[in-house]
Amino acid sequence: MRNSKNLKIFAGSSHPKLAEEICETLGVPLGKMSIGKFSNENIKVKIEENVRGADVFVIQTSCPPVNEMLMELFIIIDALKYASAGRITAVLPYYPYVRSDKKDEPRISITARLVADLLKAAGADRILTMNLHAPQIQGFFRIPADQLTAAPILYNYFSKMDLSDGVVVAPDVGRAKFNDIYAGRLGLPLAIIDKRRHGDDEAAEVRNVIGDVKGKRALIFDDEILTGGTILEAVRALKRFSAKSVYVSCVHPVLSGNAAQRLNEEEAIEEVVVTDTLPIPPEKSIDKLRVLSVASLFARAIGIIHRGTSISALFQ
Ligand code: R5P
Repeated sequence: MRNSKNLKIFAGSSHPKLAEEICETLGVPLGKMSIGKFSNENIKVKIEENVRGADVFVIQTSCPPVNEMLMELFIIIDALKYASAGRITAVLPYYPYVRSDKKDEPRISITARLVADLLKAAGADRILTMNLHAPQIQGFFRIPADQLTAAPILYNYFSKMDLSDGVVVAPDVGRAKFNDIYAGRLGLPLAIIDKRRHGDDEAAEVRNVIGDVKGKRALIFDDEILTGGTILEAVRALKRFSAKSVYVSCVHPVLSGNAAQRLNEEEAIEEVVVTDTLPIPPEKSIDKLRVLSVASLFARAIGIIHRGTSISALFQ
């Protein structure tokens, strides 16, 4: 790779496996760095190799403990800045606080924007991330930001299946556009779950499924699964409307609480297909889970950014 002697990859503690796979694909060793804590729990980072003038990428995803991982990232970037790194790109497979992207209640923070400001303040020159919860979050960044999509990885997986009786199902109207892209690429019809909410305190009620799902293999795509509530509600509606089976897919498997177990126990779900933007701990590695790697996509993006060539082919 051109300029490879100046390309350096560092990783925080959040997702060592993904960082190793990215480094392996790029043929670049993981940068040496020590991360420790003082007795007062303050994080201490020391860069253990020369980075003067280097094009540095720091990989850190947003997984528990979320705030500690975020603080660790800021400190790594700060240490790199003081070590005279030439350019620093924060690589955030799952962007921290991505859900806090709007002021939909009085007197709340738009924390996703705050994180963008703090990354810049820490010394990040660029951001590389994947599937932001809402596309307009890109506007929060005052530094260049590239947003990858996991769609090619998911298409590739599902396109190998027999989808002659397949239908893509949006779990609610808000997700229709996102799912329509998948339907178009897989050459499948789209159905939409019509969910109504009567007031802030009332649970959403599934009124209808718009489109034909009877006897079909339904594929649901979402950007993330947190509690699993959205997906399970959609699956139950599909069962009521006589879908034959359901494949659930998302980019970011947050799987908070007992979400993984609840998905595993739902008989109508054949598989839960996710990517590895987040590490999956053993207790969440359920039988139905199929994890697809984003490492080579991130490695390609890092290579492209490093060479300064066009990245747009990766967004298609
Ligand atoms: C909603 O806008 C998102 O796309 C997901 O549907 C939602 O974040 C999933 O959350 P949960 O799994 O808690 O229902």
